[in-house]
Amino acid sequence: MLASVLLLGLFVCFLLLQLQPRRPKNFPPGPPCLPVLGTLLHLNLENPLKDFQRLRQSYGNVYSLFFGLKPAVVISGFKTIKEAIVIKAVDFAGRPQDLFPNYVTQRNGVILADYGSVWRDHRRFALMTMRNFGLGKKSMEERIHEEIQCTVDTLVKSLGATLSPQFMFHNAASNIICKVVFGTRYEYDDEMIKIIVKCFTDLTKMANGLWAMLYNSIPLIRPLPLPFNKAFKDMEMYLGLAAGLVNEHKKTRVPGEPRDFVDCYLDELDQQGEGSSFSEEKLLMHTFDLYVAGTDTTSNTLLTGFLYLMNYPHIQERCQQEIDQVLEGKDKVTFDDRHNMPYMQAVIHEVQRIANTVPLSVFHCTTKDTELMGYSIPKGTMVIQNLTSVLNEEGQWKFPHEFNPENFLNDKGEFVKPEAFMPFSAGPRMCLGEGLARMELFLIMVTLLRKFNFIWPEDAGKPDFTPVYGITSTPKPYTMKVQLRSKQ
Ligand code: HEM
Repeated sequence: MLASVLLLGLFVCFLLLQLQPRRPKNFPPGPPCLPVLGTLLHLNLENPLKDFQRLRQSYGNVYSLFFGLKPAVVISGFKTIKEAIVIKAVDFAGRPQDLFPNYVTQRNGVILADYGSVWRDHRRFALMTMRNFGLGKKSMEERIHEEIQCTVDTLVKSLGATLSPQFMFHNAASNIICKVVFGTRYEYDDEMIKIIVKCFTDLTKMANGLWAMLYNSIPLIRPLPLPFNKAFKDMEMYLGLAAGLVNEHKKTRVPGEPRDFVDCYLDELDQQGEGSSFSEEKLLMHTFDLYVAGTDTTSNTLLTGFLYLMNYPHIQERCQQEIDQVLEGKDKVTFDDRHNMPYMQAVIHEVQRIANTVPLSVFHCTTKDTELMGYSIPKGTMVIQNLTSVLNEEGQWKFPHEFNPENFLNDKGEFVKPEAFMPFSAGPRMCLGEGLARMELFLIMVTLLRKFNFIWPEDAGKPDFTPVYGITSTPKPYTMKVQLRSKQ
């Protein structure tokens, strides 16, 4: 009996030793690891940002963690992140392929595609298509202005009352990307859009939450009926809806005369020969990627912007003065007007800096054995860019810890953009929708500030600026009051 217990004990010890992650030679340092769990207990999985900051203080700008047996390297600070994703761009341009979102998205799409020809072809195609639809030209501006008019109507209906802006901004961003991708917008109470928004909200909440971390760290639990299965069902539902829209496009399209992204992709499919990386399956996930990447990001940035502008009324007023002066006699703002609005530009950039909308970027992965700051990082290692650490890094900003547009203005009051402004990341994986997002933020904020005053309601108490953590961080729900401005 004693021998059996001893043997069992030995076997358990052996097993634990096998499941004890080990740092390879010259791998970045980090906190001690436990068998099976790795370094999971060092992180608050609901919001690990403070832990990442604490670990940076102990281990420096390059340190390692283990999600179960899986190693990850966290990189912080402008200099280190630039060295990795810009200077050693290709080495760090991969995406991990064994995480929860890879399974949910069936390894299709562009956001999570690994570095290689499928990603390159789809990225290039998306950039080119959005450019042809007028990114940087007037027609994209027209699309955005049409949607802004709906936001203005919503605000006019709420004059004098208190309103929750979450849904309004979410719908504006969602409709703009929907027009680009599917050529259509949806009324705010449309059943289809409600289902899509719910799928997206559930998926993004889950993608880097507790259950996703457990799914990534402990493969044994993957077949079990646990809450993460909901994400697979949501994805199935989205793909079904998207397939319906693509089928409608097939019936109504005129080849060579594309109306939107889906038509462009179908034209491309007609032209591609054997061995092409384009397929209808990939199209469906590509629509998902653009939609999901383009909605929460822009709407959470707008929410942050108006939260701060209401609580810094002198900044709101100074924006309005500049807008009135530059747009005097003009019907609508154009994207080109930004060159004459240094203060507004500074405010929008400061909003993006403080909003820190995608705090950990999208996880990267090394494409070959490489080195960073003297450490060796093997091929296939997950790399987490702590963008937060750059956007509030001391030494990079005049006022790193406060909301202050002076961060983007020089002594002459001209707009300047420090290199550490990285909310869209940098390097070859940099946000593909940067052009669209910048245009949306500028046109929406300028139009709304020109027409309305935004007021923090008297009964709303003290504002809570602490964001809610997620793949995209978002301000806590708040309400606003709007007044028509006399001078527009
Ligand atoms: C304020 C708005 C936005 C912010 C802050 C933002 C930020 C980011 C960040 C940090 C990344 C990860 C880059 C990396 O891995 O290094 C990213 C990737 C991406 N974004 Fe955005 N984004 C915004 C808006 C948009 C919009 C409007 C679209 C849609 C057109 C979009 C489409 C994408 C795509 C497709 C990728 C993946 C690129 C790739 O892997 O090659 N984003 N974005």
